Amino acid sequence: MKYDFDAVINRRNTRSYKWDQSEKLFGDKDIMPLWVADMDFESPPAVKEAILRRVEEGVYGYSVSSEPYKEAITSWFKRRHDWNIQPEWMTDSPGIVTSLSLAVELYSEPGGEVIVQSPVYYPFYDVINMNGRKVAKNPLILQNGRYEMDYDQLEGLMKGGAKLLLLCSPHNPGGRVWEREELLKLGELCLAYGVTVISDEIHCDLTLSGHTHYPFASLSEELANITLTTLAATKTFNLPGIQTSFIVASNPDLKRKFDMRLKTLSLHMAHYFAPDAVQAAYNEGDEWLDELLVYISGNVDYAISYMSEHLPQVKVMRPEATYLLWIDCRGLNRDINGLKQLMFKEAKVAFSEGSVFGSEGEGYLRINLACPRSILQEALERFSEAANHSL
Ligand SMILES: Cc1ncc(COP(=O)(O)O)c(C=O)c1O
Repeated sequence: MKYDFDAVINRRNTRSYKWDQSEKLFGDKDIMPLWVADMDFESPPAVKEAILRRVEEGVYGYSVSSEPYKEAITSWFKRRHDWNIQPEWMTDSPGIVTSLSLAVELYSEPGGEVIVQSPVYYPFYDVINMNGRKVAKNPLILQNGRYEMDYDQLEGLMKGGAKLLLLCSPHNPGGRVWEREELLKLGELCLAYGVTVISDEIHCDLTLSGHTHYPFASLSEELANITLTTLAATKTFNLPGIQTSFIVASNPDLKRKFDMRLKTLSLHMAHYFAPDAVQAAYNEGDEWLDELLVYISGNVDYAISYMSEHLPQVKVMRPEATYLLWIDCRGLNRDINGLKQLMFKEAKVAFSEGSVFGSEGEGYLRINLACPRSILQEALERFSEAANHSL
């Protein structure tokens, strides 16, 4: 390996959302944080170099993005996902959740229903509820240890009038990489009932070996026409603090509305550092990402075998993508508060508590595996020892 993902970087006292809030959020500063989805790894060296070059300029005035930045994005998606994105389909946005929220506001009516497939990334609920829309839940079906879509119930929601769907692809939590056929079946329903799709594909580059991510909008022109895709380099290359993302919409009406709203809120200016960082990541980050995925797969294998040996009451869902491990802790017989007590008070670890992803996540925890193996090892030891102690 060229990159050392085993290196432990001390992130405390860096104003890290993940590392510097344990006391405030969980009651003890020594709690190990394996919750919010950022990585404890350095970004690819080319990213740091690009930012340093920009820092050296010293004048941090209003900034525009550039053609090479757009080319870096389009060639990455061609190279890695066989998707031909035209530069005119793209618009930058400060963050994916910002884009999701704008899309909900723009493409659904006040009080209208918006479909989500639960359990799902919790801001999906916020952007629907806080925009005065209603969550229409299509709970995923747990089949042979992995999640599948419930097409009958989905059709029922569409028949009932839901006109917008938030797709999480790959899915967080649970790590499903939706297969081409699954997406096509979903797409057929959306086309039949006039449903617009917001496809959040932030985890697309974190697809693990043996699986292929299909961008929903790449499957056909008809599907592209009803879809706005939200994308970012931030999850892939660990740049979320830089706060940058982009949308892809080939349908000019969807895009025009989105661009107009972004302008209205004055969110359309380029970030001073982001385009250079993203361009460097996409142009020079392939090797780093390939090695990262090998390391993450190693962490997945490690966690699965550790849990089966030391805490077999917990069932682990093997992710097909993402660095997030979704574990079914119902065998520990703890309610939501009991699981929090176990993590924060007894084990001194912070995983994400499952019910925030929807009531279907009750009894589950989500572990962020994007950390050096030694940290993962210690967190799993703490957790399984505490859990075994009270069994
Ligand atoms: C599915 C999904 N969408 C969006 C985000 C966050 O995107 P952003 O930081 O650009 O708002 C995350 C972060 O974990 C995520 O898992």
